[in-house]
Amino acid sequence: MRLQSILKNWKISKFLTNKGYFFSRKKILKHLPKSIIDKAYYSISKWNRYYKTPLIKLNKLSNELNLGNVFYKDESKRFGLKSFKALGGAYAVKVISKNNKKIIVSSATAGNHGRSVAWGAKRLGLKCNIFVCQNVSKNRVNSIRELGANVHLVKGNYENSLKECKKQSIKNNWKIVQDVSTKNYKYIPQLTMAGYSLMIKETSVQTNKYITHIFLQAGVGGMAAGVVAGVARYFKRIPKIIIIEPDNAACVLKSIQNGKMTKIIIKKESIMGGMSCNEMSLIPWKILKDATNYCLTISDNKIPEAVTLLAKKFFSDKKIIAGECSAPSVISLISVCNQKNIRKKIGLDKSSNVLLIGCEGNVDSNLYNKLYSRGKKRLKI
Ligand SMILES: Cc1ncc(COP(=O)(O)O)c(C=O)c1O
Repeated sequence: MRLQSILKNWKISKFLTNKGYFFSRKKILKHLPKSIIDKAYYSISKWNRYYKTPLIKLNKLSNELNLGNVFYKDESKRFGLKSFKALGGAYAVKVISKNNKKIIVSSATAGNHGRSVAWGAKRLGLKCNIFVCQNVSKNRVNSIRELGANVHLVKGNYENSLKECKKQSIKNNWKIVQDVSTKNYKYIPQLTMAGYSLMIKETSVQTNKYITHIFLQAGVGGMAAGVVAGVARYFKRIPKIIIIEPDNAACVLKSIQNGKMTKIIIKKESIMGGMSCNEMSLIPWKILKDATNYCLTISDNKIPEAVTLLAKKFFSDKKIIAGECSAPSVISLISVCNQKNIRKKIGLDKSSNVLLIGCEGNVDSNLYNKLYSRGKKRLKI
């Protein structure tokens, strides 16, 4: 089947221009200071088995869409943990433990962040307690257990698991490592975002092309803000920043639209599990409210096809294992290119060098296999 006919009906659902856009390196680096960003790179780049994750050219896709280059940062290769989150929680554990082997860490998490904290504790020989709510898949829970963490299953949603984590941590004197910042909890989330900024440090030396557009998936906004801070720190030219969210969980879009952090109600959980969040983290809000050019949302519909097309080398010469939160990057780019007025507005053309973040691989292998087979069936390939 011709790629053009497969992709022609892909569409985004919502699109918003940020009227308050104002990119200030100084302001961004006030919220996530250069010293914290630099220390994260200095530390993580010396870890055992550290190497830059691949920056893969989606050459077939850029030809199809008539764009200069499309780069895909493949985080499925990150430290064997298969997601960019390995850079965040594990780094925060390293900093706060200060080489004290007696410290016990804890976290409430829906998945990848918990794995990162558990792995960070294991690396240092620390005990670790992870609190998860009941809708987290068995596969994800097992992968946290396999890293040696004590997993506590909590009834209800993420907020219930966080409450229980706080209660037990205060009682037992465990150090909480969350990736979500609030008014009185900033430093540890800053460390996690500084870890994520490594993706941009690496990109800055993996290509000599100036990146013109970055598409960024968002849950609470930590990854997007970490990348934006990386741009402020490492890139000479500032690309356009486009935030991607699931239709059912667009808390960044809603917050930017309202000019204030806005909590939303999730009516139905998206397949894009890591992005299914109802409220932004505070520091990401402060960074993204100014630095975001555009927000968009997509449905779950095309995730299986995108997963399969990436694996079957329809977009590149290399096979790419892209999980449910990675697929939205190509879906958004393709959909924007299909919608001529939006493509023009964003300024995507033959001179564009687009960066997509392949934030996870087959972390949940059951779900990945299901999506892949569904995609194959629908595409009849
Ligand atoms: C694979 C993946 N992608 C994207 C996100 C969204 O990141 P954030 O919540 O920092 O915006 C997450 C969050 O868990 C994730 O696990």
